[in-house]
Amino acid sequence: MTDEFVVTPYKVSGEVDYEVLIERFGTKRIDEQLLARLAKYGPLHPMLRRQIFYSHRDLDWVLDEYDKGNRFSLYTGRGPSGPIHLGHMMPWAFAKYLQDTFKAKLWFQLTDDEKFMFYDQLTLEETKRWGYENALDIIALGFDPKLTRLFLDTEYIKTMYPTAIKAAKRINFSTIRAVFGFDNQNNVGSIFFTSIQTVPCFLESMEQKRKVPCLIPCGIDQDPHFRITRDIAEGMGYYKPALLHAKLMPSLQGANKMSTSSGNETTIFTVDDRKTVKKKIGNAFTGGRVSVEEQKKLGGDPDVCSVHQYNTYFFEPDDKKLAKLYDDCRAGRIMCGECKNLLFEKVWAFLEEHQRKRAKAKDVLEDFFVRD
Ligand code: TRP
Repeated sequence: MTDEFVVTPYKVSGEVDYEVLIERFGTKRIDEQLLARLAKYGPLHPMLRRQIFYSHRDLDWVLDEYDKGNRFSLYTGRGPSGPIHLGHMMPWAFAKYLQDTFKAKLWFQLTDDEKFMFYDQLTLEETKRWGYENALDIIALGFDPKLTRLFLDTEYIKTMYPTAIKAAKRINFSTIRAVFGFDNQNNVGSIFFTSIQTVPCFLESMEQKRKVPCLIPCGIDQDPHFRITRDIAEGMGYYKPALLHAKLMPSLQGANKMSTSSGNETTIFTVDDRKTVKKKIGNAFTGGRVSVEEQKKLGGDPDVCSVHQYNTYFFEPDDKKLAKLYDDCRAGRIMCGECKNLLFEKVWAFLEEHQRKRAKAKDVLEDFFVRD
């Protein structure tokens, strides 16, 4: 049963078993030893403590290099197909923590080309427009403009193209077909695209004209692209990129991952107003019982509750408070309504602040973008 789920950059279905995924993808768990090592560089991020970022490739190597004085660059990205929701922001907030902790340069790719090629209904003008729209959310998270390069693929292609075709020459169609589950109906642009997503792994090396290690924090669904990149990197004269993988943020429906396509009633967008957010959280799936009496007697089930998941992933960074919420739920001391209200206050406090910063980001957009 557990083997029936699918995770690729283009399809997530079934109930994802993240332990099985580590074996399937051949990645490594971030174990206690690695966590202890990470804690030496600064306070451990809650997403590490709680195993939201739970898997990696070569993180130990990247830290070895860092300790020797060979600093790494960071790389992450966004496929601009629509508005940003809270699930998108999670790995980016983590990227910001990495930037701050390691004073690392971040390359942030906006794949307007990818979303144009993969979504029939989107024009290139639209994905570009979403790219600029999404950039505001990214900048609002507080990245350092001196250490951050943001770019749309179609506006940075002169720099990237020579490296993209060097990558493309080393990737077979049969590999792409097997890794992504493509068939003869996929357009040729989508078959080529991994070559483009590969390039930012090497942008810092290209700029500095020497091999620079690269660390990619991302949702584990993106790993297939970078598995391919890692197979060809050394042959191209670069280091293999290292990765840090996050579990996918659940939706308020309690389903697999918060998604723009699964309907707007349960997805919280960064531009939603107070009333909308309140309503969406009010409708969230919980582990509550059929009646208050029963819940007081038997307790709720936080393990299946999307409100508890939200607290765990993002909104309750205090471990003690989180544990208390969990225990109070199990013991029937807190009801779902109250718990939802508590979550709403935290989500709204975050969003109100975010919306303020997002509005200001318009003035500094040009400090972040590179074009060629
Ligand atoms: N392909 C990703 C998406 O659809 C966007 C992306 C590009 C990305 N480069 C990345 C994500 C690097 C994580 C890391 O969302």
